[in-house]
Amino acid sequence: MVNLAQELSEQDVRDLADHYAARVPPPVQSPGSEAGSALADRLRCAACHGSALQGTNAGAARLAGQKMRYTTWSLQLMRSGTRLHGTAAKPDPLLAGLSNAEIESLAAHFASLR
Ligand code: HEC
Repeated sequence: MVNLAQELSEQDVRDLADHYAARVPPPVQSPGSEAGSALADRLRCAACHGSALQGTNAGAARLAGQKMRYTTWSLQLMRSGTRLHGTAAKPDPLLAGLSNAEIESLAAHFASLR
């Protein structure tokens, strides 16, 4: 690697820098995350988890940026009552009526946030 880099001219280095600077990272959005956004609004998740879903000092966990698989799993456990959700009844009535697809759309939405 060092040998390779030594062979590059100043212009090569600038060209490489321009090349990488121009690359736009792919959007993190995954299918379903728009539906998840609407659902999170309707169920008022932000009332406890904070307006940007980044968690609060009152003890609500950060949801923004969490891995989709982990959130899906957590919500399914909370829906079944295997896992507590804050101070909600067990199983959590807020999540009781959600389908797996709806839970996945919520998780996709949270994963797309930073
Ligand atoms: C009444 C307040 C309240 C509301 C409303 C609420 N949550 Fe929570 N939630 C909490 C608290 C407090 C925690 C942290 C304690 C725990 O894990 O049980 C939590 C934890 C979680 C976790 C686990 C996070 C982790 O890192 O393990 C998920 C996932 C979650 N909430 C999703 C949601 C979703 C989705 C909604 C909206 C449908 C929602 N919450 C609405 C209070 C709330």
